[in-house]
Amino acid sequence: MRVMERTFREQLFLLLCLSVPRGDCRYIEDNEVPQDDLFSVLNSDLKRDSPETSMYRRPLRCVDMVAMEGQFTFTAPPRPRLACAAFFIAEPNQVFSLEYDHVDIDCRGGDFIKVFDGWVLKGEKFPSLQDHALPLSERYLDYCSLGSRGVRSSQNVFMLFFRVRHAGDGFTVTVRQHLNPFPCNIISQTPGGSFTMVVPQQRKNCSFSIIYPAELQISDFSLGHYSDTTFPKRSVMGCSGDFVELLGGSGLDTSKMSPIAELCTSFSGPTQMKIGCDNTVVRLVSSGRFVNRLTFSYNQLDQSDLHRIQLNSGDDFCSTE
Ligand SMILES: *[C@@H]1O[C@H](CO)[C@@H](O)[C@H](O)[C@H]1NC(C)=O
Repeated sequence: MRVMERTFREQLFLLLCLSVPRGDCRYIEDNEVPQDDLFSVLNSDLKRDSPETSMYRRPLRCVDMVAMEGQFTFTAPPRPRLACAAFFIAEPNQVFSLEYDHVDIDCRGGDFIKVFDGWVLKGEKFPSLQDHALPLSERYLDYCSLGSRGVRSSQNVFMLFFRVRHAGDGFTVTVRQHLNPFPCNIISQTPGGSFTMVVPQQRKNCSFSIIYPAELQISDFSLGHYSDTTFPKRSVMGCSGDFVELLGGSGLDTSKMSPIAELCTSFSGPTQMKIGCDNTVVRLVSSGRFVNRLTFSYNQLDQSDLHRIQLNSGDDFCSTE
């Protein structure tokens, strides 16, 4: 089991440092982009300018991770790669806008720049097809067919896929972050923190994705005016109506992850869990009849905790306690 765990982590995830002032690191799945590229991002000197003082500007790498607003320029090197991808991530309560400032690419010759509304890692998408309001085809916005109109992300993450084949060609984009009053689908920028999700009488399902093995603590879950004063309770049989699901897995697509627990308002059980999965998701299922509110905190499991619960649990895909 331990061996599987290692190869799994090594094959699917690479450690990548975010270009944020705090310098947090996280796992990022190889997106059919050469591993060397990811490691060069990891080892590179990341600028730590404050976005408040002036517009942050820097070159965009073929494989990149951006956690700030700013202006980013890609210029194709003498021997350009065919597949480039930049991951953008903001705080949970933010969304992005992107504007093209300057584009010099050969669309007819096969170059492209595509904005994806979400993240794609090894074919797995976040938010999943079920949870995103738009069909997949409308989540890819191709510069070559749509022109330079600006785009906005639906959540705190989006990606830029691009291919620029002639040395010296390239593009410049300005990316800004905006407040999102009701964030729904979120990838956590940090391995620990707390979050309150509010779904205002809408029939939709929202996922908060923690891409680390995590210890979770649900401190409040209430359904509108029927708000329960007791803490959420874990269910053995499954809940109906509005409830909270905890999912675990190794990819990004929440629809492919396994249910670990469900929290209804009318069952009794613990509200704290340790989940030894590479990706842990807190998912709020809402019927639209209530204003749902969910508050939780999370911390990255330390190595000793992780090893202990792996030893104590059976053969399941990832261990829980
Ligand atoms: C939300 O999830 C539940 C349970 O997984 C499902 O039955 C329901 O259809 C989903 N709602 C939407 C709007 O996708």
